[in-house]
Amino acid sequence: MSEQTIALVTGANKGIGYEIAAGLGALGWRIGVGARDRQRRETAVEKLHAAGIDAFGVPLDVTDDASVATAAKLIADHAGGLDVLVNNAAINGITGNLPQTPTTVDPATVRTIVETNVIGVIRVTNAMLPMLHASASPRIVNISSSVGSLALQTTPGIDMGPVPAAYLASKTFLNAVTIQYVKELGDTNILINSGCPGLTATDFTGFSGDRTPQQGAAIAIRLATLPDDGPTGGFFDDAGVVPW
Ligand SMILES: NC(=O)c1ccc[n+]([C@@H]2O[C@H](COP(=O)([O-])OP(=O)(O)OC[C@H]3O[C@@H](n4cnc5c(N)ncnc54)[C@H](OP(=O)(O)O)[C@@H]3O)[C@@H](O)[C@H]2O)c1
Repeated sequence: MSEQTIALVTGANKGIGYEIAAGLGALGWRIGVGARDRQRRETAVEKLHAAGIDAFGVPLDVTDDASVATAAKLIADHAGGLDVLVNNAAINGITGNLPQTPTTVDPATVRTIVETNVIGVIRVTNAMLPMLHASASPRIVNISSSVGSLALQTTPGIDMGPVPAAYLASKTFLNAVTIQYVKELGDTNILINSGCPGLTATDFTGFSGDRTPQQGAAIAIRLATLPDDGPTGGFFDDAGVVPW
């Protein structure tokens, strides 16, 4: 494997994912820009190249087995391996239509969101694991959200706002999955952590967040660049530890 650190960011064509790619690329890393739409992917790669970043496009739909398998092969062929995986891609299903409640949500919406936000992470992670195992300092960063924290959801006095129910539960599900990966891979050198970007102005929130995508990307960049003796199995935002 080359000495240059290789990272894959899923959903890197816009929003927080793009800024994670830009931030890691600015460190001199080689960045796989995982994106499902060819035009949006190529535009992002061109923008990163214009900023002097060593980026390459990775066609990737996290809901599609064949797409994910092809992405893993492309990274192996093109970059020779993978050191850091940032699972960022997600949907909330109903932007602009809040609140969404458990009693009103369409089961199909729940299924679609879980397919992307949870099963997509499992699918991509498992496809990339052989390359991560071969890395000297592998990292997995799962982009979660504090709204998925059961501890915060059940703390009296904390109002999570009108968060879509299916999206919120998908992040709780993802947190549980992240912990299970940590348990299974705990005796390897892979550091696995979750990060919450905070309420960020992107398409995802109808641009209602008070943080910029660059600010939202900061926690993922910190977790992707942890030293070898850094934490694993944690959930963090810019302020510190988020309770599971
Ligand atoms: N924004 C916030 O306030 C906030 C707060 C907490 C956590 N988060 C989390 O931060 C992450 C990024 O959110 P964001 O605000 O940057 O959202 P965004 O601007 O909507 O970007 C989401 C990205 O995910 C991609 N994506 C969706 N489904 C995909 C699929 N099946 N395969 C591949 N890529 C797919 C999108 O690609 P397309 O362009 O093709 O749709 C897009 O690149 C998400 O995990 C989100 O849950 C966001």
